[in-house]
Amino acid sequence: MAALPIKHLHDLEPRLHPVKLEAKLRIHNVSKVFEQKNQRVTALEDTHFDVREGEFVTILGPSGCGKSTLLKIIAGLTEPSSGYVMLNNRRISGPGADRGMVFQAYTLFPWLTVEENIGFGLKLKGLSKAQRQEIVQHYLDLIGLSGFGSMYPNNLSGGMQQRVAIARALANDPDVLLMDEPFGALDAQTRTVMQELLLQVWETSHKTILFVTHDIDEAIFMGDRVYVMTARPGRLKAEIPIPIPRPREFSVKTTGEFMELKAEILELIREESWKAANEIRDGEFA
Ligand SMILES: Nc1ncnc2c1ncn2[C@@H]1O[C@H](COP(=O)(O)OP(=O)(O)O)[C@@H](O)[C@H]1O
Ligand SMILES: [Mg+2]
Repeated sequence: MAALPIKHLHDLEPRLHPVKLEAKLRIHNVSKVFEQKNQRVTALEDTHFDVREGEFVTILGPSGCGKSTLLKIIAGLTEPSSGYVMLNNRRISGPGADRGMVFQAYTLFPWLTVEENIGFGLKLKGLSKAQRQEIVQHYLDLIGLSGFGSMYPNNLSGGMQQRVAIARALANDPDVLLMDEPFGALDAQTRTVMQELLLQVWETSHKTILFVTHDIDEAIFMGDRVYVMTARPGRLKAEIPIPIPRPREFSVKTTGEFMELKAEILELIREESWKAANEIRDGEFA
């Protein structure tokens, strides 16, 4: 089967708000090998891409392909085995407030109220109570939880907790928001609402977002570009620009344009799945 053409950045349609051309975030030939006793697992191989300021980039790949490893390297929580990550033209060497993380698991502090969770990083930065209150209120409004500031996370639904986690990450005003399957634990209806809400938040906040998921619809619906990752070891297989105009609403998921993009990505993934299946048949894992 002929390889699908890999499209390039200049194919992107004009967007609602301008994207600056230089790389905000550069992942430069990053690889990661985990060594345990006498076992070596290559989690990530030669991964190379840029994210521009204000872009929403999604990374789509099967479970175990190295998505979380990639985000942890960008977050500075894991050292790459080779390569490096640049943010604002500076090489990152550890965790920093310039990168906000939102994980799949609910990570709010259960002993703090919603307001205190959102304001947590601001307190660490030494902002006054009045300054903190103003910022916290802004993000509570943005995520549609204005009346919920004094509640505790355990009294909120999973979707609401993730909204608070997004607000907490944004309140610190990071340069890049890194999202690791943030809606993966939510039911389908809540997930859809959260996707739309995040797009609204992004369109207001103009943040640069790198979002990983194993859900094809989610990757297309959210992204300016989708990177498809290979199964094992993880590397980028293709880049698919998503020219669907913004703002996007749920209804675009049933349009012909969306279906065509989905078919193209399904084909890429099917090739990968067959490769993995053939490796098993050939006894590589025996
Ligand atoms: N700390 C670790 N030690 C050893 N192997 C790991 C570690 N973290 C991840 N891996 C392995 O690396 C591969 C990629 O994992 P991960 O990045 O979590 O994938 P994904 O997020 O795409 O599901 C998997 O095979 C996983 O078992
Ligand atoms: Mg993961």
